[in-house]
Amino acid sequence: MKAREIIKDIHYVGVNDRVTVNFEEQWPLPYGVSYNSYIVKGTEATALIDTVKIDTLNEYIKRIGTEKIDYLVVNHMEPDHSGSIPEIVKRFPNLKIVCNATAAAMVKGFCHIDEPERMHIIKDGDSVSLGDISLRFYMTPMVHWPETMMTYVPERNTIFSGDGFGCFGALNGGIVDTEMETEHYIPEMYRYYSNIVGKYGRSVMAALNKLKAIQIDYICPTHGPVWHERIAEVVEIYRRLASYEPERGVVIVYGSMYGNTAEAAEEIATALNRLGERKIIVHNASHSSMSQMISDAFRYDTLIVGSCVYSMTLFPPVQSFLTAMETREIKNKVLGGFGSFSWANGVAEKKFNEFAESVKLPLASTFSFKHGMSDGTAQDARQFAEQIQAARKEASYPVH
Ligand code: FEO
Repeated sequence: MKAREIIKDIHYVGVNDRVTVNFEEQWPLPYGVSYNSYIVKGTEATALIDTVKIDTLNEYIKRIGTEKIDYLVVNHMEPDHSGSIPEIVKRFPNLKIVCNATAAAMVKGFCHIDEPERMHIIKDGDSVSLGDISLRFYMTPMVHWPETMMTYVPERNTIFSGDGFGCFGALNGGIVDTEMETEHYIPEMYRYYSNIVGKYGRSVMAALNKLKAIQIDYICPTHGPVWHERIAEVVEIYRRLASYEPERGVVIVYGSMYGNTAEAAEEIATALNRLGERKIIVHNASHSSMSQMISDAFRYDTLIVGSCVYSMTLFPPVQSFLTAMETREIKNKVLGGFGSFSWANGVAEKKFNEFAESVKLPLASTFSFKHGMSDGTAQDARQFAEQIQAARKEASYPVH
């Protein structure tokens, strides 16, 4: 494949990866992923924006073709974008690496490039001229690493946003959203954000506020489509996620060895539905992917967790899920917990309370039952659902 001009003087040279099973060795890629890289051609110099994962180098080199590169802009040093830097430097021995000081230390550490004369260190607001077109740099730390920055081409109202506004999903022929159907990328954006960037909402909001001052007609992220006609929608998704404004919906994640806790989960889902709730997602933690459970739990306003007691603690798949949620900041959510036990009464409630304390959210309701479900337990489940709905009514944060 050759480079493809997507905006005047801006060419796409990224590659698709439909081979890697798990992104960062943990997040499934049912639709693959793209590592986006771009060439910006001015009348006096040409810049390459980010590189690609080393596994896809051959395709990348073909894409770049005979283009002569003067500058390599490093917006982000995670190896899915920086892995090919050493090979690009070998191919273009005179190129300058344009990056901030934090990234420069990582170029030295990850790429073993220790050549001060090669480095062009920039700060927030600095520019580099390519002749009739220029690059301006905005520091956006922790979107998603400390060195992350974005590069803006004011003459084209185009921003290279790094991981910001990115999503899972390889590109299927088209590159810009105007030239292809992009609906299936939207759930992949929620999954990408919550799995990869979810902890850094404050940093994402700081970046969004910084970008308000500039006109943006094209967003060129490092993963997924280039956004043009859906910019407002995509920015709004990121704004809501970064500001922890949930959508209305209930996510039930349960773990069950022999079906008793599962039965309670079904009873709660039915009770919630009868109380008028239409959006209910039920995950069996032993079967659903961790990635999708995190995405749904992050996105919706209510999280209910159920577990049987297992060796005096929670069932391990449920505990893993809660640990994964603890490593992200979750806010503005109604929490509930339920469980079953054979002889260790109170263990599940204790663990749910510890989780609620850890994520600094109140626990709206809990209940446990001994052995199997009974008519009384079913009544408890319905009462639990009513308490959850009451807590949601009292919530003061915006729910979309
Ligand atoms: Fe796509 Fe944080 O790297």
